[in-house]
Amino acid sequence: MTNTGSHGTGPFIAAIDQGTTSSRCIVFDRDGRIVSVDQKEHEQIFPKPGWVEHDAKEIWTNVQEVVAGAVEKAGITAADVKAIGITNQRETTLMWDKNTGEPVYNAIVWQDTRTDALCKELGRNVGQDRFRRETGLPLASYFSGPKVRWLLDNVEGLRERAEAGDILFGTMDSWVIWNLTGGVNGGVHVTDVTNASRTLLMNLRSLEWDERILSSMEIPAAVLPEIRSSAEVYGTAQGGALAGVPVASALGDQQAALFGQTCYDKGEAKSTYGTGTFMLMNTGDEPVQSYNGLLTTVGYRIGDEKPVYALEGSIAVTGSLVQWMRDQMGLIKSAAEIETLASSVEDNGGAYFVPAFSGLFAPYWRSDARGVIAGLTRYVTKAHIARAVLEATAWQTREITDAMTKDSGVELTALKVDGGMTSNNLLMQTLSDFLDAPVVRPMVAETTCLGAAYAAGLAVGFWPDTDALRANWRRAAEWTPRMDADTRDREYKSWLKAVERTMGWIEDEE
Ligand SMILES: Nc1ncnc2c1ncn2[C@@H]1O[C@H](COP(=O)(O)OP(=O)(O)OP(=O)(O)O)[C@@H](O)[C@H]1O
Ligand SMILES: [Mg+2]
Repeated sequence: MTNTGSHGTGPFIAAIDQGTTSSRCIVFDRDGRIVSVDQKEHEQIFPKPGWVEHDAKEIWTNVQEVVAGAVEKAGITAADVKAIGITNQRETTLMWDKNTGEPVYNAIVWQDTRTDALCKELGRNVGQDRFRRETGLPLASYFSGPKVRWLLDNVEGLRERAEAGDILFGTMDSWVIWNLTGGVNGGVHVTDVTNASRTLLMNLRSLEWDERILSSMEIPAAVLPEIRSSAEVYGTAQGGALAGVPVASALGDQQAALFGQTCYDKGEAKSTYGTGTFMLMNTGDEPVQSYNGLLTTVGYRIGDEKPVYALEGSIAVTGSLVQWMRDQMGLIKSAAEIETLASSVEDNGGAYFVPAFSGLFAPYWRSDARGVIAGLTRYVTKAHIARAVLEATAWQTREITDAMTKDSGVELTALKVDGGMTSNNLLMQTLSDFLDAPVVRPMVAETTCLGAAYAAGLAVGFWPDTDALRANWRRAAEWTPRMDADTRDREYKSWLKAVERTMGWIEDEE
């Protein structure tokens, strides 16, 4: 997808999506239509089993390139762009020297499990839920705080430099905004409430860093960015293709998708199918504690309005399982081919694939789980495995929607979906079958960028209010359930049996 042609003459909003596998920039017009896209992948660094890193300098270079690329493809100049919105892979943690702009270590990616043992230790006698009341999160290697602590403990001399005030911590929103707004020459060091709510360091109600948790985790306050709203002007881009344009929003990618899907009312939910899958439900202006393995998180905050909270079901591995089939197993040549292969058989042939590559996220939060393929017989072919791969995404979604129903009391009537995997028809049909509910996809499936653009546009008055944004949402496709209840129940039971078999694989290492 490059240039969709038919758009007005502007003005426009540009959104930067700093994702797990790539960075992209999309220019949108006032109707929320895509004018141009540019995208660039970056290297995934796997130094050891369970470790995942990114080169933050490479990422910043890519961001500059895709911004220039999108502006050029749109045939516009910085003067046509009213604001820049930022969205990003969440939790991925970076520390850098504020005097030189040099990262002190690679960014530690959200999927990285190196802090498992540290998280257990931080749980003390209370366990995983030690900070749940304040932060809405279990203590897990997924979140940023323990990654910061790991860096402070493992990068030589870092703690001293951090305490002296020379070191900045940030998730990728902070890194991009700091660099965009001038870097060593006056760059602003900020994050937004949604990204901050994924650190295990922010109090969900006060929306401030929690001093008690900081001291438990031994993280000096001097490294922390200022927590701001998701939609407000943080500063102005200095240099680059969009020099002079206000930087006016930041949201974690999943919250941006919630915003882009226009889930502005309590009870509205979306599910985004990318590297992982993340379902978020708007719960209004009160945080709802989960008793079923979901996270409580900030959905968004516009200017000085009240924050809007969300319940989240996070699945670590969905699209990345397809990538694994392609890159590590070599069973397919492109991600899209998984559908062709899976469609060549009627069913899974009895095979179930639970991709617990970095443990299990929601609703289990088990770091001792590892992946299994269960139910193998001599009958099973690679096509059955391909089917099991797609079904894994659908069953994991089903487990999340079950938990959402229990926590919120709201029965799922339809699921709004987006993300790269939603171009897979078989997957979307399977999802509808397993959920026994309609699945709908909007015209603009790039809801992550769209949400960041919407928030930035609201901040500068490009759009008047959320009603105007809602009017832009258009349905592009819908799938309705075709599976009979007996089959669904039987298959679900088999899936849950396979899930059980992943647990306890890793025994206390030390
Ligand atoms: N037709 C397809 N069928 C199944 N999976 C697909 C298909 N096309 C893409 N994918 C998967 O979707 C993912 C890419 O989707 P998307 O671009 O939304 O990812 P993302 O999570 O936004 O990336 P990032 O993490 O960089 O933000 C990849 O993991 C890819 O394997
Ligand atoms: Mg993404």
